[in-house]
Amino acid sequence: MVRTDISALLPFILEGIEPWLEKAAAAAEKLNAETAFAGWLHLPSNTSAELLDKINAAAAKIRSDSQVLLVIGIGGSYLGARAALELLRPQFGSDGSPEVIFAGNNLSGLYASQLLAYLEDKDFSINVISKSGTTTEPAVAFRISYSLLEKKYGEAAAARVYATTDANRGALRTMADKAGFTTFVIPDDVGGRYSVLTPVGLLPLAAAGISIKDMINGAKAGEAEYLRKSSDNPAWLYAAARQALYAKGKKIETLSFWEPRFRFLGEWWKQLYGESEGKENIGIFPASLELTADLHSMGQYMQEGERTIFETMLYSQPEAPVVIPFDEADLDGLNYIAGKDMDYVNRTALEATAKAHTDGGVPCMRLDIPAVTAASVGNLFYFFEVACAVSAYISGVYPFDQPGVEAYKKNMFAMLGKK
Ligand code: PA5
Repeated sequence: MVRTDISALLPFILEGIEPWLEKAAAAAEKLNAETAFAGWLHLPSNTSAELLDKINAAAAKIRSDSQVLLVIGIGGSYLGARAALELLRPQFGSDGSPEVIFAGNNLSGLYASQLLAYLEDKDFSINVISKSGTTTEPAVAFRISYSLLEKKYGEAAAARVYATTDANRGALRTMADKAGFTTFVIPDDVGGRYSVLTPVGLLPLAAAGISIKDMINGAKAGEAEYLRKSSDNPAWLYAAARQALYAKGKKIETLSFWEPRFRFLGEWWKQLYGESEGKENIGIFPASLELTADLHSMGQYMQEGERTIFETMLYSQPEAPVVIPFDEADLDGLNYIAGKDMDYVNRTALEATAKAHTDGGVPCMRLDIPAVTAASVGNLFYFFEVACAVSAYISGVYPFDQPGVEAYKKNMFAMLGKK
């Protein structure tokens, strides 16, 4: 479970957190009353064993016939899987499972040409993911990579394509039905950025050998905890604290994490919060910091720049003790920490940073999570989803639409001459 610690924030919220927790309770009521996009809310407990079996069967085929799985998608259709993969796979070398690579999240010709060159001599499958089935970036990437797949495998190419999309609508659904791709459905009432625990996230993860059953079980435990009507609900506390700080002019939140493997979790979190809350000319701007690396790039701004920032420090339990050795010569002057575990040093850096930032006028709260496992990652995804919806409702915006995303598309289609 996530533990939310807001004790260091309290000096910044003079009225106390209680009025904000009342708002969180009212927001949670609104969330319970949501009908159009509430499918994700009980998704963990509604995920059937049959669905997990179907995903695992497709994953087993991918694992047996592919060196590489190309996942094509943008926004909510890839960030969750990418975040979980970076959290759960080794950071160096291969673990023997197929490599999972991503496309369809940009329109770069260079990226596409290097991708095609990379895939040319590899056995690969494609998981193309688009809820609407009409998004330009993944559509272009799929057209390009499917033509390579057909060139390599001829009529057998279609059996290497897994399409995750709407049950009935969209160009991808039409293509999948016509070509006979294996398909997985994104339920109508689950929005893109809330879809990581559907086949959108689960198929790439299963193909990488990650236990999706554990992940769903972790999220299911979160369902009991984060939907609980209680002022000590960690998701309510996080949502309430964010909005209390926003009301004090703290308009930017940095999610700061202490392990490089959290970088894409930060990207997923930014999409979830940015698209859910940034509308009607309000909303906390979500940014992320990889610490300690970014203390050497953003640290100066955090400490002394404009005081419009608050910080959420995400810390996972250490897993791999590495002790700093003693060195007789001590030429690097590090013997003062010889014998200490690196995680102890990392944790001390966190405490020192939190104190420095707080003293400098940047309120810091803490989210502590257990060791990173498929279950704890599932739980964390679910925590952030609930807290995001509650926070958006407190601020008065509807969390489940993204009308602003259409503006660039309209211009681009007009300029490209789309009929
Ligand atoms: O949260 C959302 O709905 C969006 O960010 C989508 O995930 C993103 O635009 C991709 O859309 P689609 O899956 O329809 O291709």
